[in-house]
Amino acid sequence: MREERVRLDTLLREAAARLVATGSPSARLDAEVLLCHVLGVDRTWLYTWGDREAETAAIARFEALLARREAGEPVAYLTGEREFWGLSLATEPSTLIPRPDTETLVEAALERAVASSGRLLDLGSGTGAIALALASERPGWAVLGVDLRLEAVALAERNAARLGIANVAFRQSDWFAALGEEKKAGRRFDLIVSNPPYLADDDPHLVRGDVRFEPRRALVAGEGGLADLRHLARGARDHLAPGGWLLLEHGAQQGAAVREALADAGYEAVVSRCDLAGHERVSLGCWPGR
Ligand SMILES: C[S@@+](CC[C@H](N)C(=O)[O-])C[C@H]1O[C@@H](n2cnc3c(N)ncnc32)[C@H](O)[C@@H]1O
Repeated sequence: MREERVRLDTLLREAAARLVATGSPSARLDAEVLLCHVLGVDRTWLYTWGDREAETAAIARFEALLARREAGEPVAYLTGEREFWGLSLATEPSTLIPRPDTETLVEAALERAVASSGRLLDLGSGTGAIALALASERPGWAVLGVDLRLEAVALAERNAARLGIANVAFRQSDWFAALGEEKKAGRRFDLIVSNPPYLADDDPHLVRGDVRFEPRRALVAGEGGLADLRHLARGARDHLAPGGWLLLEHGAQQGAAVREALADAGYEAVVSRCDLAGHERVSLGCWPGR
């Protein structure tokens, strides 16, 4: 353990250099976020008070986190949180760390959630990122999130409670399997959204960066990554109200295949939306009813 007192800006500079050496693309930012987490301060504080000295105990905690980051562990698992749509969400290794790309899905859903009230379903809700973003923006809507993993359901519930978002509920379900009650009662959804697993099992991203530490069932699907997307396109028809929309996030190269799956399943007005990097990221279609 380092016994001497060290200035915060020195500590940061050394930490960033260590992370650069591991090939981290966001070394300085990662070091700042980890140090802020240890000190319980924000980055503005760190920039303002860089000439202060860190306590030995804080240095030791920072060193421990830094060593785990050097080994590749995602910053969001080390700090236990990640911001999505302006909401601070607790994260843990039971599910995916929310990605900025997914905000494209939230934007597209909000454009279609124009009524003052409605019913929305998020399939594979993970931390609750999408469901919570939409519920916070549309307090008159009833939002339901489902996930296969009980730990993810519990995490999403904790996030909702922490954020004080009351118009959302979470439930364990293998996609539509636990929605029998809604179906029997004829309670259909105006919007169904999902960011399902969509990587092929030989996708090179699986052996790089944060993805190595995330659960495979949150990432990988059969049929070259398209199996869950196709399953959701078919299954959502039984749960959408006439005129309701299905919105699916997918990989940058999967737009054409997802549009085809939606059109084959009978959806109308099928289109794709690009993310900020210009990649087709979300495809959607309107269910005319039958
Ligand atoms: C790509 S992650 C998305 C998580 C979250 N919606 C987000 O955007 O950050 C996919 C999620 O689908 C869940 N999932 C995988 N298979 C499922 C299934 N058969 N039924 C329900 N959820 C499933 C995973 O547990 C994981 O939380």
